[in-house]
Amino acid sequence: MSSLLELLGGRDAIEIVVVGVWERMIVDPSLGALFRDVSRTRYERGLADSLCVLLDSDDPPWIGRELRRVHGALGVRDADFDRFLDCLAATLEAAGVSRPLVRRVRGRVAVLRGDIVSGAVAN
Ligand code: HEM
Repeated sequence: MSSLLELLGGRDAIEIVVVGVWERMIVDPSLGALFRDVSRTRYERGLADSLCVLLDSDDPPWIGRELRRVHGALGVRDADFDRFLDCLAATLEAAGVSRPLVRRVRGRVAVLRGDIVSGAVAN
């Protein structure tokens, strides 16, 4: 059975997707401020790496620990994470990905919520 990564078009497709996700996040009224001082190139690369791992297997290796380390002190809220998922889904839909596949991708990425959200109030 094809992995979600293969269904989306592989690493090449993910590299296009992360550009769209960044462009949506950076103009988002609540998410934009969180990324103001972040290097776009580094972020896109890191996000692409993480998404490729996560979408490549039905039993993805545990990348949560690393993501928890990176995000732990950022104060990302549940609502921020929801907006992130919205930006990802909107990017995929705009690229013509079918709604069922978008839902599956969203569900897979949503497993990272507990590693990204730290519950504190973002400022
Ligand atoms: C609401 C959701 C998210 C927010 C607000 C957020 C925010 C951030 C910020 C501000 C940084 C920079 C940290 C620093 O420079 O010290 C960062 C780094 C990173 N994030 Fe996120 N993130 C979110 C979701 C995700 C998700 C879902 C993934 C993976 C699928 C991810 C993967 C990464 C990676 C790999 C880095 C390190 C990039 C690097 O090497 O510089 N993030 N995140």
